[in-house]
This record gives sequence, structure tokens and C-alpha cells, in this order.
Amino acid sequence: MQTGLVHLHNLLRWIVLVLLVISIVKSYNGWKSKKVFTPGDKKIWLFTMISAHVTLLIGLYQWLAGRYGMLTTSLPEGTSVMKEKFYRFFWVEHPTGMILAVILITVGRGVVKKQIPDPVKYKKVFWFFLAALILILATIPWPGREIVGRSM
Ligand code: HEM
Repeated sequence: MQTGLVHLHNLLRWIVLVLLVISIVKSYNGWKSKKVFTPGDKKIWLFTMISAHVTLLIGLYQWLAGRYGMLTTSLPEGTSVMKEKFYRFFWVEHPTGMILAVILITVGRGVVKKQIPDPVKYKKVFWFFLAALILILATIPWPGREIVGRSM
């Protein structure tokens, strides 16, 4: 089950990235061409948020109880998390970056419910989602990253 969850977490990364890029392009167009807000945009923002939340939940499980989870792994004698690059990445940097990104996506998507002009909605979503995308890209264990890199 553990391996399956890591694969699912990995696969969801692509779904989150594709939906985020589509949402960013659409919100930029809506903002710049002063479009009227459409149900299609509402749906794509919702799916982006849901995919991010599911990835977050699987990540939280791995963080605590996965094969390198904080509750299931003991660090080698005499080392500390912050000195060990692998554990610093998977216990601190990756979760912090990703949790912040999911908060940005959730807050950004929340503008749907606000009574504000449509171009302002698009503008807010654009900036929130762009910031989330940058954080996600920066904290993914891309192949080639020293020690923490994973295959795609
Ligand atoms: C949108 C959010 C996230 C994305 C896109 C993402 C992406 C990834 C990717 C691509 C991997 C490598 C998977 C592999 O080796 O096949 C990974 C591993 C991991 N992620 Fe995330 N992640 C996200 C959120 C989180 C969160 C919020 C946490 C913890 C709270 C987390 C904890 C972990 C852990 C512990 C691993 C290593 C799992 C293992 O090798 O056993 N992730 N993540």
C-alpha cells in the first residue's frame, strides 16, 4: 500500500501542475480582457483545489507514517534533522513549501464567493495561483536534485 501511495502522490503532482497552469492562463486572460466570470472557470479552480487537497492528505500520511515518516523512522545516532539533507527536505522543506502552496490555492480559490468585480477575481486568482505554482516547482524532488531527487 505504501508504494501505491507514493506512486499516487507522484502522479497527482502532474494533475496539480496541469490544472494550476490552465487556471493561471485562464485567470490571466480573464483579468486582462475584463471577462465576465464563467462557471467553467469556477469548475477548473475547484478541481485545482481538490487535487491539491488530495495530494496534501497523502503527503501528510507519508510525512507521519510513510517509509520515511517521522513516526516510523529513527534518525541515525548523533544526527539531527536539520543537518541531514534528505530528512530536512522530506520532513521540513517539502512539507512546508507544499502546505503553504495549498493554503495559497485554497485562499485564492475562495475569491469565487466574494462580492467583487469579475476582473478583480481573475487578478487575485492569478497571483495566488502563480505564487503556489512557484512554491510547488521549487519544492518538488525533481530528478537531478542532489540526494533528494526522485525519478518522474
Ligand atoms: C501539491 C502538493 C505536493 C506535491 C506536488 C508533492 C509532490 C511530491 C513528489 C513528486 C514526491 C516524490 C514521489 C516519488 O518518489 O515518486 C513527493 C514525495 C513526498 N512527499 Fe510530497 N508533494 C506535495 C505535498 C506534500 C505534503 C503536504 C507533504 C507532507 C506534509 C508531503 C510529503 C512527502 C513525503 C514524506 C514524500 C516522500 C515519500 C516517500 O518516498 O516515501 N508532500 N511529493
